[in-house]
Amino acid sequence: MFSMQPIGFVESPYQNTQEIPKGLGAKHEAEGALKILPEFEPGLTDIEGFSHLIVIWAFDRAEGFCLVGTPPSDNRPHGVFATRSPRRPNPIGLTVVELLGREGPVLRVRGVDMLEGTPILDIKPYLSNIPPERLRRGWLAEAEARNGMKP
Ligand SMILES: C[S@@+](CC[C@H](N)C(=O)[O-])C[C@H]1O[C@@H](n2cnc3c(N)ncnc32)[C@H](O)[C@@H]1O
Repeated sequence: MFSMQPIGFVESPYQNTQEIPKGLGAKHEAEGALKILPEFEPGLTDIEGFSHLIVIWAFDRAEGFCLVGTPPSDNRPHGVFATRSPRRPNPIGLTVVELLGREGPVLRVRGVDMLEGTPILDIKPYLSNIPPERLRRGWLAEAEARNGMKP
């Protein structure tokens, strides 16, 4: 076993889960902030040069887990590890956000899909080197096609 501590908390416009866009084609354009605790601020040194960040966080308000479930983006069940469900054995969330600016320990970002006050576990620069043509989107691509959405 191991334990973790938050390095900071999300400032989000969302107070409850119903406010967060869900389902096929949902866009995450909401702006918010990653408020890093003072003792971790030196860890932000040189972060300004990155356009996008991976935020790893805790689904602190999820209850239990469900190994197979039907996500809002489909009407068919899928395994939890083939989805981004909050109800997972280890309730860890991962969101790619656009870095808009930094004021000391506060990172202003676009693309939050977390609730206000969500604990942040880690931040890493986003450096994807997978060419788009090599990405496969699994059941999600099939659900999009069934709903007439273009790939
Ligand atoms: C589908 S999950 C995806 C989250 C992240 N992008 C990921 O892939 O891990 C996003 C949903 O998690 C829920 N959520 C957001 N913040 C949460 C929190 N702190 N605790 C529990 N559920 C949360 C909301 O219902 C939101 O719509």
